[in-house]
Amino acid sequence: MPTALRLLLALLLLFAMLGTGLSADKKPLVVVLATGGTIAGGADSDTTTIGYKAAVFGVDRVLASVPALAKVADIRAEQVFQLASENMTPAHWLILGKRVNQALKDPAVSGVVITHGTDTLEETAYFLHLTVKSDKPVVLTGSMRPATAISADGPLNLYNAVCLAGTAEARGKGVLILMNDAILSARDTTKTNTFATDTFRAPDSGPLGFMQLGRPLFYRLPARAHTLATEFAVDALTALPQVEILYGYAGSNASQVTSALAAGAKGIVNAGTGNGSLPDGTKAALAQARARGVLVVRSSRTGSGVVTRNGGVDDDALGFVAADNLTPQKARILLALALTVTSDPLRIQRMFDTY
Ligand code: DGL
Repeated sequence: MPTALRLLLALLLLFAMLGTGLSADKKPLVVVLATGGTIAGGADSDTTTIGYKAAVFGVDRVLASVPALAKVADIRAEQVFQLASENMTPAHWLILGKRVNQALKDPAVSGVVITHGTDTLEETAYFLHLTVKSDKPVVLTGSMRPATAISADGPLNLYNAVCLAGTAEARGKGVLILMNDAILSARDTTKTNTFATDTFRAPDSGPLGFMQLGRPLFYRLPARAHTLATEFAVDALTALPQVEILYGYAGSNASQVTSALAAGAKGIVNAGTGNGSLPDGTKAALAQARARGVLVVRSSRTGSGVVTRNGGVDDDALGFVAADNLTPQKARILLALALTVTSDPLRIQRMFDTY
């Protein structure tokens, strides 16, 4: 090929790359919002992986544990909270969600990573999955071992999360959870083990993909509506209606319903046995609560599978809602958001069939 033609082709390629904003060395800008958790946790000994103190190190210290980040992204970091995630509340979700939306509005920002305690990480992730208004990646990550431990899992989780948040492939897939090399959907994922580093699983569907050498490999896509496709917007919310969860077991009874109503619940999720089954006494008390305008959702304590409408309980007659395959803690989030829009149980059932 003549030298002049080769030079012309090289120039055309360079202009094409610059036009798309791509260039050989342009790194994505990723915003890291830190909230605490074990990934920021520490202990006196490097062999202590249980009984450490969560949420002790600031975001700069957490980021400094991953020098390789400098090669893959430009990072804008912020300490939004510093807490163990068992202390997270819906009020925290609202603050965090508004901060995420604000960060994503900056056209220079490729994506957001949230470092978070693992205990309630799935709840924050699902709330954001339903309320963030952008198709840019939002990736939550954390760790099961404190930052001071031998083989701490936080640094590689953080590296993978930042890499993922900077990719085009992660766009449009809703809020993602990155743990232990797995890319999981916020809707389907739950913490399944008290100490194991592979604790985050999606029992009914598995991970969306995996991270390998800083690149995502996707094999599945989320099937349900999320982010831009929902009717919920965190920026429009100032509070969430109170929704309580009841737990079914041999001998559970109406006293739980009485307590939830006394606490001011506007919605009740029952984590029932099996297919969301209800003991007669609990069913009667929930029917009375429904008659008083409280929304009732039947979920299951089993951890996987689908609670089917009118499957064993006459939801049509009782005015109850079936939670599909959402866990009780996820069903609570969707019900709370639904109650900001409507109190019609059939419209809310359509939301559980959609999100
Ligand atoms: N206190 C727990 C939390 O902040 C520790 C578990 C963890 O972060 O992995 O969720």
